Amino acid sequence: MTTFRHLLDIDDLSATELRSIVDLASVPATGLEPLLAGQGVACYFEKPSARTRNSTEMAVVQLGGHPVYITRDEIGIGSRESLPDVTRTLACYHRVITARVYDHELLEQMADLDVAPVVNLLSDGAHPLQAIADVLTIEGEFGPIAEQTVTYVGDSNNVTRSLALAVGMLGGTVRVSSPPGHRFGPVDLDRLAAAGVEIEYVDRPEDAVKGTDVVYTDTWVSMGQEGERSERLQAFEGYSVDEQLMAVNPGAVFLHCLPAHRNEEATDGVLDGSQSRIWAQAANRLHAARAALHWICSVNPGGPIDAPTPGLGPPVGT
Ligand code: CP
Ligand code: NVA
Repeated sequence: MTTFRHLLDIDDLSATELRSIVDLASVPATGLEPLLAGQGVACYFEKPSARTRNSTEMAVVQLGGHPVYITRDEIGIGSRESLPDVTRTLACYHRVITARVYDHELLEQMADLDVAPVVNLLSDGAHPLQAIADVLTIEGEFGPIAEQTVTYVGDSNNVTRSLALAVGMLGGTVRVSSPPGHRFGPVDLDRLAAAGVEIEYVDRPEDAVKGTDVVYTDTWVSMGQEGERSERLQAFEGYSVDEQLMAVNPGAVFLHCLPAHRNEEATDGVLDGSQSRIWAQAANRLHAARAALHWICSVNPGGPIDAPTPGLGPPVGT
């Protein structure tokens, strides 16, 4: 039986917990108890990152802890050492294990070992810390998410899944416009439904954005899909967020988790235009990460520093 709470996707949280994390994100670091004081956080990355690595590491520092960046080549899960052995090793030193992985199942396997709380820093399935930052950004712009409509245009992917869960669980309306073959399947729709979230699919982006508050897009070629690039560019023709699409709804703001593949899923004119809020969104990653880490420490008290392993004797130097 699992005793640790994890954050692998937004629906690991109740709507109340999600609300409290979003609210906590507005509290500056100086107003928070440094729940990571003197403790480590493992930051395992199988893929590149600019926003997630930097915001997570700085959030750990703001909570008094020490982030340790670990690459796949260095730790060699499955080649140098087994996943259980690596996970148990990291749990000897770190209060929380955070990880960006290709296969979401790897996070589930880490979590199932029940040796430390695990936080998803992006997998092929989900990107929960991004979604928390997105809600924060939308509420900063317009007020309560429950009164907003968020329209996602493009590939129904990891970012879409977490965004739909976060917006929907907090009572907002979620619309998605994706070409056939790139929409959520029954498993995803059932999972969203289990969290009380229903998404509305609208075929044409120009219909989908009518009356919306937010237009959101992400790359058509996620990390790990580079081999499908040419088919994907073809499949998403007509789904680019350009100035003409944003002009359908001049009151809407534009969001993108970044990195952007400029002039593919969104044009320079939109990314850098007056409706764009991408830099507020990127900045909010830090506040979202701090709040999420604070929450995971609150619900998983203790950690290796507080619990010397029986049989190993006192730490050297005491
Ligand atoms: N949005 C996001 O996760 O960016 P990075 O891939 O740079 O971390
Ligand atoms: N869907 C993208 C998000 C990057 C932050 C990817 O997985 O590569």
